[in-house]
Amino acid sequence: LTLYVLNGPNLNLLGVREPDIYGRETLADVQAMCDAAADGARVVFHQSNHEGQLVDWIQEARNEADALVINPAAFTHTSVALLDALKTLSIPVVECHLSNPAAREAFRHHSYVSLAATGVIAGFGPRSYELAVRAALDLARRAGA
Ligand code: DQA
Repeated sequence: LTLYVLNGPNLNLLGVREPDIYGRETLADVQAMCDAAADGARVVFHQSNHEGQLVDWIQEARNEADALVINPAAFTHTSVALLDALKTLSIPVVECHLSNPAAREAFRHHSYVSLAATGVIAGFGPRSYELAVRAALDLARRAGA
């Protein structure tokens, strides 16, 4: 099984960026948690600040991945391009957030990505990723991957 875990803008600064909201763990720590939660599945883990790069990885996942976890970060609330790319997938897609956007500013309450997500996990800090990885792999296995 292969799982793609994609991360959007500013998540490279995890650990130093607004730690009261996003915690002190780094993206490398999050990657290690994903590997540990993957239970033998192959995890392909990427971060980019660029929308088009994320679109390219989603398109790559069409042929390479059995499930996909994505934290689109700020693009969650803006990106029709990510939504359209995700709509081309037939694998489980889990939207993942460290914080709970529904409990924050109004502009974070709408997610374009949710329209193409199988489900959403938000608000558990870095553990959101652990839960998202487990959910995505569970869905993939149930689908027969
Ligand atoms: C985020 C929430 C988004 O609203 C924000 O723009 C981020 C991170 C999260 O993981 O909580 O950059 O996706």
